[in-house]
Amino acid sequence: MKMWDGRFAVETDTLMEKFNNSLPVDRKLVKEDISVNMAWAKALEKAGILSSDECSKIRACFESMLEEYAQGTLTFDAGDEDIHMAVERLLTERVGEIGARIHTGRSRNDQVVTDFRLYVMDALEEMHSLIEGLQRALLKRAQGDIETIIPGYTHLQQAQPILLSHYWLSFFWALEREKKRLTHARETADMMPLGSGALAGAGFCVDRDFLAKELGFSRVSENSLDAVASRDFVLEALSAFASLGILLSRYAEDLIVWSSREFGFVELDDAWSTGSSMMPQKKNPDSLELIRGKSARAIGNHARMASLLKGLGLTYFKDLQEDKDAFFDSHENAGMVLAVFARVVETVRVRTEDIERSLDPFLLATDLADYLVGRGMPFRQAHRVIGKIVAYCIQESLPLNKLTLPEL
Ligand code: ARG
Repeated sequence: MKMWDGRFAVETDTLMEKFNNSLPVDRKLVKEDISVNMAWAKALEKAGILSSDECSKIRACFESMLEEYAQGTLTFDAGDEDIHMAVERLLTERVGEIGARIHTGRSRNDQVVTDFRLYVMDALEEMHSLIEGLQRALLKRAQGDIETIIPGYTHLQQAQPILLSHYWLSFFWALEREKKRLTHARETADMMPLGSGALAGAGFCVDRDFLAKELGFSRVSENSLDAVASRDFVLEALSAFASLGILLSRYAEDLIVWSSREFGFVELDDAWSTGSSMMPQKKNPDSLELIRGKSARAIGNHARMASLLKGLGLTYFKDLQEDKDAFFDSHENAGMVLAVFARVVETVRVRTEDIERSLDPFLLATDLADYLVGRGMPFRQAHRVIGKIVAYCIQESLPLNKLTLPEL
């Protein structure tokens, strides 16, 4: 028997049942769903739908579900259509008749988006400490590598000398912006939809400000159609994850190149590399390659969400059930990738002698031009003069730093 089968004459096809079932994915929302139910029970009591005794019984039952969940003993039935149905079935089985009152004035449409907003808010919040873990590793490196001069590149051509610390700190500051993006996405998610019902609001006087406070939202949705239909908060969160993935991928790419024999600037720790099944000499920077590879998922999940939404009118369509998997995947991967990157940065060995050997004296050409500017020459002229000196060095096969004063 289904909770909605009153008007149906024929059973759902088993394939349709499997196709429609979202429990394997949305069971992740169990804690949020129970919290939302507990707050809703209080709102129903305030609205006079539940007596205070009924409300207490229902809330005690939810409390015990939370405990079982924490102990890993809360189980669902394969037949539960989604997490909302599963939680409501358990309630009704345990408290009997009064459990059947919990779904008053609400729909799964406002319920699912409330659960999901709570989940997204927590998930985004928790990303900060992971990013800060990587930032701490970068700061430590920057302190340790303060004496190391490396060639700075543009176009993958040696450009100007920089401190290796300067490079690590570029990563640090870019991550600061990623945190801002996550904070902004969290603010977008922070809106309490309950009371919107399926689309047109609740037929009972529920105290929405109370619900928002109880659940930790700082504001309530203004429009019920928007509340059940909107998923821009998911899109924004996925965009933040994509941006983070792209950033990590770029730094991974640099370190992969630097760990090649041709560059030889760094060597990854054995613990963060893998070998080849065929070539005994190989040590591959797989940790970094996977960081780069997994960013494709983050970009893909953002594209997936955008295309899920673009054809949808208002309000709720079952298409929206596909939103969670994209988010969970990006979230899980972002966490893993950040943790791995922090360990790689902490353990990577910097090969200072090889770096020193690679420094091309031409790296100082701009400083020479600046020197002439200091002596009163206009920069364009100084650029040309040093350009001529560079050409002379190339022609004579002389390093720039070995020219004598008369030659200069
Ligand atoms: N499992 C559904 C989802 O994730 C819940 C909402 C179902 N609503 C409906 N009207 N069938 O979107």
